[in-house]
Amino acid sequence: MRTVEQLLTYPKISGKEVKEYLDLAVGLVEHNLKDFTEYFPDSNSQNNFYPQTENVEWTTGFWTGEIWLSYEATGKEAFKKAGEVQVDSFLKRIVDKVDVNHHDMGFLYTPSCVAAYKLTGNETAKKAALLAADNLMARFQEKGQFFQAWGELGAPDNYRLIIDCLLNMPLLFWAAEVTGNSDYAQKAEAHIKTAMNYVIREDHSTYHTYFFDPQTGEPVRGVTHQGHRDGSAWARGQAWGIYGCAMAYRYVKNPEYIDIFKKVTDYFLTHLPSDLIPYWDFDFDDGSDQSRDSSASVAAVCGMLEMSKYMEKEDAEYYTDMAKRLLLAAAKECAVQSPEQSNGLLLHGTYAHASEHNPCANRGVDECNTWGDYYYLEALTRLSKDWQLYW
Ligand code: GLY
Repeated sequence: MRTVEQLLTYPKISGKEVKEYLDLAVGLVEHNLKDFTEYFPDSNSQNNFYPQTENVEWTTGFWTGEIWLSYEATGKEAFKKAGEVQVDSFLKRIVDKVDVNHHDMGFLYTPSCVAAYKLTGNETAKKAALLAADNLMARFQEKGQFFQAWGELGAPDNYRLIIDCLLNMPLLFWAAEVTGNSDYAQKAEAHIKTAMNYVIREDHSTYHTYFFDPQTGEPVRGVTHQGHRDGSAWARGQAWGIYGCAMAYRYVKNPEYIDIFKKVTDYFLTHLPSDLIPYWDFDFDDGSDQSRDSSASVAAVCGMLEMSKYMEKEDAEYYTDMAKRLLLAAAKECAVQSPEQSNGLLLHGTYAHASEHNPCANRGVDECNTWGDYYYLEALTRLSKDWQLYW
């Protein structure tokens, strides 16, 4: 655990370092286009190298997002062309309904297709993202007022929301804006309200998932899926909470969400180990041999940088500076330095770690993962200019 006084002693990433790490990362993305234009990187690397995959799982949009961020950084046509190939793949995926029977339409379609539409006016991208938003809307449960994450709709053993879904909500706010149909935004607001009510515990750690009664919609209980145990704070879940609060405030403008953000973020910051790279669950601290999850750190950094836009000056500076400390630590400890080392950007992530209290098998342990790479690049981009976000 860290005290605030300790955290304040860590160095912050400088403008020069941001530029150097950004140039390095964009160069690596460019190098990897040859393998990942017609194909996508798998969710996580194996021995630090991603195998190629088709457009499946909840994670392929992050790679396309890296392509769009690199296009913004360089203006190079090669990125635009590759991004367009991938947008076509995303339209085909949603039309053919390939692996879209879940809630992660935002993670998939925001950094890929909303980004393409915002940056280049690509109409295929707009169409694909709106179809994805409609697909997500079909998962809204009136009883309980939330988007059901996984599985058969209404099934009692799947009648739950997960904290990650806060990052799927921007797709719906975007859909409301471009179509003029406020139903997207109303359901997103309702889901956010439900999630904020139940996933945040008294000590401001968070539940990964929360079950409701399908008959009455009454809250039942918080349960982990990828955390160490039901009552622990899964590091990435806490990070989704941080960025999720920032997104919630951006779109709903409820001041309570700033307050919740501060508490959830402070929990994250004060539970970091001494090198500022979180273990996969905050049950673990200095001296543990458990794996780290660098992706949790960079997602939290993006959330802090976003929420700082809406805070009073003193708080904004505090969280921006903390974000800069975490980003420097992540870059120094985890940034890939050359294509020979890895075809990702950020080492030392954990997709899922088995424990006796969760249903997971080990997957992507001490590996790159595509969302870690994406949020790392987004964080560097945010610090390099006044970034107009895809989310
Ligand atoms: N959204 C799933 C995960 O963070 O692993």
